[in-house]
Amino acid sequence: MIKFIPLEPALPIRNVVLREGKLSLDECHFPSDTMEGVFHLGYYVGDELACIASFHPQPYGEFTGTGYQLRGMATIEKYRGQGIGNQLLNFAIVYLRGQKANYIWCNARKKALQFYKNLGFEVISDEFEVPVNGPHYVLYVKIQ
Ligand SMILES: CC(C)(COP(=O)(O)OP(=O)(O)OC[C@H]1O[C@@H](n2cnc3c(N)ncnc32)[C@H](O)[C@@H]1OP(=O)(O)O)[C@@H](O)C(=O)NCCC(=O)NCCS
Repeated sequence: MIKFIPLEPALPIRNVVLREGKLSLDECHFPSDTMEGVFHLGYYVGDELACIASFHPQPYGEFTGTGYQLRGMATIEKYRGQGIGNQLLNFAIVYLRGQKANYIWCNARKKALQFYKNLGFEVISDEFEVPVNGPHYVLYVKIQ
């Protein structure tokens, strides 16, 4: 089941999945987590939070209309490859379309590119390096 969730339950998953469990939970906050309009989604399997993603109202480059940055997209290891991330992001796309948002963008790890392409995202940058996390691209999907 997909739910809007507070930030706190997402922090341990951000840490384990995206930061190799090396940070304190405090260090797993993004500066933009406190922005007006931020929301977090979680996919629950029973009582267990399996997948998370955060959406920050944030324009990118020259794109017009309302843009959201997708951050902290993560599925815990045992639930990967089952379509859960795809469902969560599809939910967000439909929800944000209803909110009259125009596009979603993200800095995506190279190894997750196909996951985003499956959802209609396209690459809009050259490859760039993020310290510790490796090669990334900026991805964009127009939602209306
Ligand atoms: C990237 C990530 C969030 C994807 O989450 P997920 O829940 O495994 O995503 P899905 O299961 O929807 O899709 C993953 C793969 O499973 C496949 N899949 C298997 N069964 C599926 C189903 N029933 N429906 C849709 N896709 C399915 C998809 O084709 C996809 O393969 P691909 O990426 O090679 O195209 C997850 O792998 C993850 O947390 N990785 C580590 C952290 C990370 O890299 N995060 C992204 C940072 S940019």
